[in-house]
Amino acid sequence: MKTTISKLHSYKNNKKITMITAYDALFAKIFDNEVDTILVGDSLNMSFFGESDTLTATLEQMIYHTKAVCNGAKNAYIIADMPFGSYSTPNRALESAIKIFKETKADAVKLEGGSEKAEVIKLLTDNAIAVVGHIGLMPQYSRSEGGYKVKGKDEESINKLLKDAKAIEEAGAVMLVVEGVKEEVAKEITEMLAIPVIGIGAGRYTDGQVLVWSDMLGFFDKFKPKFVKRYLNGAEITRNAVKDYVKEVENGEFPTQKEIY
Ligand code: KIV
Repeated sequence: MKTTISKLHSYKNNKKITMITAYDALFAKIFDNEVDTILVGDSLNMSFFGESDTLTATLEQMIYHTKAVCNGAKNAYIIADMPFGSYSTPNRALESAIKIFKETKADAVKLEGGSEKAEVIKLLTDNAIAVVGHIGLMPQYSRSEGGYKVKGKDEESINKLLKDAKAIEEAGAVMLVVEGVKEEVAKEITEMLAIPVIGIGAGRYTDGQVLVWSDMLGFFDKFKPKFVKRYLNGAEITRNAVKDYVKEVENGEFPTQKEIY
């Protein structure tokens, strides 16, 4: 059965929400029914497309991958990331989000930023577009901030996170992703808000967790951030399977009678 936003809201304080990223129909179909929600993250620009950050992802790219994910997943609540630059002004954000909603079956869009994005979130919400906020370590800010920095380590940062979380909820966001934040701060945000808070690198006390599929399944094996748990050595298993295939083709073991017409 299709997961709705009201179902996700009913999980607050009752059941942990599970979220995973997906970029295509094949994996979305596997993840559907296992998780509550699927995020078509702009992390695809790095793990799928091989770029060094998320900033060069385009709206067209995000729409293409969201369509694919929607083709594969019929039950999970699907969130499409708005790429860098596609929501830099309220009008631009509305245009971009309407395009995502018209061309895909995404249930919500996600955008990065704190209270400065409240106006954008309100405008999208007022126009029937569900918005998921994203604060803390925001990958789209990695160039301007000179890297990926954990947030909530000092009073100024903690106060900003709390203020941003409140502003995002008041603007109408349906959920909030909190990334790369000290556990006790993520806990405070989770307790303060009525909407579900989903953590990534934000400790144990959020309403749910999200991981990038290629990190948690070990396909993106270039680096492993501290917050990622690997549930599979995907790259190694795949590499070994391809090695077996190559060996069998080269020594004539494949194809056998079974694979011949
Ligand atoms: O792009 C993405 O995959 C994300 C997650 C890291 C939350 O935004």
